[in-house]
Amino acid sequence: MKTIRQQPSAELSQTLDTLKIHQDLKTRFIGRSIYLFTELDSTNQAALYLNLHQPPTDPRTPQEGALILAESQTQGKGRLGRHWVSPPGVNLYASFILRPTIEAPQAPLLTGLAAVCVARAIEALSRLKPTIKWPNDIMIQGKKTAGILTEASIRREKVDYLILGIGINVNLDIDTLPQDIRPNATSLAQQLGHPVDRNKLIAMLCNEMETAYLEFLNEGSDPILKTLRSLTETLGKKVRVQLPHRNLVGWAEDLNTQGALIIRTIESQRETVYSGDIIHLRNEDA
Ligand code: BTN
Repeated sequence: MKTIRQQPSAELSQTLDTLKIHQDLKTRFIGRSIYLFTELDSTNQAALYLNLHQPPTDPRTPQEGALILAESQTQGKGRLGRHWVSPPGVNLYASFILRPTIEAPQAPLLTGLAAVCVARAIEALSRLKPTIKWPNDIMIQGKKTAGILTEASIRREKVDYLILGIGINVNLDIDTLPQDIRPNATSLAQQLGHPVDRNKLIAMLCNEMETAYLEFLNEGSDPILKTLRSLTETLGKKVRVQLPHRNLVGWAEDLNTQGALIIRTIESQRETVYSGDIIHLRNEDA
């Protein structure tokens, strides 16, 4: 039942508010510094700009854990050059700045970490049970409710900084989306039948992010990989992977230690896919 547009409630019209977010934060550094805008071209773009245009020693340069938020985006960026539809006042558009001391090939794991945290925050607030469609789609009942776009600055094979851009369809009325993306998209409000407090959700996401990130820094990739494997609905499925110059059909077997997808092709070859678009197939599909 989509009564969301017809019956706006107090929460629906509630704006993002840094004081309210801080009330629910349990973190030391993630989300402690919030840059909140009414409108941006893209929160990732703003984060890149803040990092690029100020030297790391400048006190105005965002610290690790800084969070850029916008009520709307005019040029929200999706993966593979796509547009992320970003209407005002209903969703979350967030970019986290992290500076982990890791080698460049490990960076995609942080996308997986963010995906796990989005799923955990949604579950903690709503009892919905999101899953992850590799590499970075957060799904509920087979429909996409959130996506992640990671942009990294690499210097001499090491990560200089990472921008984890997260878009979550929270109180979005799906009927307002362009027709071509509507069938595969959902929002938390659509799933629950009532609106969700965006300030609470972003605070919970910060809390999950800090716990998982510190665990990753202290214990390495094993714990996050274990959770990522258990939440990734792609594993065990027959898939078609659209690569730039060819398609690959096979069974998604596992994730490697960098979060890449290992596919056993129908010719029984093993292939490792680092990025690309995945289509889940039925077993009888070719
Ligand atoms: C995808 O699934 O294609 C990734 C979508 C990522 C969208 C978010 S919204 C906040 C951040 N700023 C952007 O411009 N994109 C990301």
